[in-house]
Amino acid sequence: MIDDIDQIKNEALEKIKSAKNESDILDLKGQLLGKQGLITSLLKKIPEVPIEDRPEFGKKINILKSIVSDKIDSQLASLKVSAKTGRIDSTLPARASWLGSRHPISALVDQIIHVFYGMGFEVASGPDIETEYYNFDALNTPDDHPSRDINDTFYIADGTLLRTQTSPVQIRVMEKQEPPVRIIAPGRCYRRDTIDASHHILFTQVEGLYVDKDVTLADLKGLLTIFAKRILGPEVKIRFRPHFFPFTEPSVEYDFSCMLCNMKGCSVCGYTGWVEISGAGMVDPAVFNEVGYDPDKWKGYAFGMGVERIAMIKYGINDIRLFLENDLRFLKQFHF
Ligand code: DAH
Repeated sequence: MIDDIDQIKNEALEKIKSAKNESDILDLKGQLLGKQGLITSLLKKIPEVPIEDRPEFGKKINILKSIVSDKIDSQLASLKVSAKTGRIDSTLPARASWLGSRHPISALVDQIIHVFYGMGFEVASGPDIETEYYNFDALNTPDDHPSRDINDTFYIADGTLLRTQTSPVQIRVMEKQEPPVRIIAPGRCYRRDTIDASHHILFTQVEGLYVDKDVTLADLKGLLTIFAKRILGPEVKIRFRPHFFPFTEPSVEYDFSCMLCNMKGCSVCGYTGWVEISGAGMVDPAVFNEVGYDPDKWKGYAFGMGVERIAMIKYGINDIRLFLENDLRFLKQFHF
């Protein structure tokens, strides 16, 4: 009788495997494990087994019972899942996997370049590792200016630093080129800032410089207004606020109206309706002197813009840190 057990087990497992639906398997469960079931009746036969074989017989039946009941449970569960998901259609084309896409900041920089290119600006560039001369001295920044502080700037070695702004590219371009000049310079900037929802130690700026005869602040405002409308839509407004920068006089800071909340106030604009984009102004004559341009002959405007800030209003992002965290749940929302 002991030898029959293996055969019973094999047959039972075969039947369980080939059960097609829930009711088949429940019937089988009754036939095998129910009160009148095969395995139950085997248990009842223990007294008929010679006494010396009983322990082994009992043990084998109990193992059989637990194997069969586990198998029934797992087959039942998998039949339930496939009833829910339906049958596999092997003719379906494979789902495309995500190939990755451009980072929203790189894509926006390209859009910005495109808009300025259409207005006659060329693209210039400069190194991320700058000298103090280009980043500060040539930009008329006094020795005791707070931006030079070691708590604000990443110094690498004596006289070299990670550029804190794209403005040094202005100097590099003017050193090499006679006016008129009309350039933009996109690039990364670095500052020792405390990281929070609107500040990071690493961010992107696009610098702009226009030098020619008869250039005015009104031209600058016109340019930035057209730019803002092309990037953010026709409804956007722009405002200038008086400010100070060592390399421009007069200087302004400029804001774009918050298109996310239609200026009603939200977390991106800090409930003010306006988002600060960066600074701008008329090039200071001291800067022209430094690069050998005659300030009586040439006038110019310059501006910087914070690309992350623009991206935040354009895409409704209320935390600048998201741009650098490489979280796929964030990045997958952009398709460029
Ligand atoms: N470089 C400035 C900053 O990062 C922004 C800026 C202000 C750029 C005035 C300019 C300018 O070109 O004219 O805060």
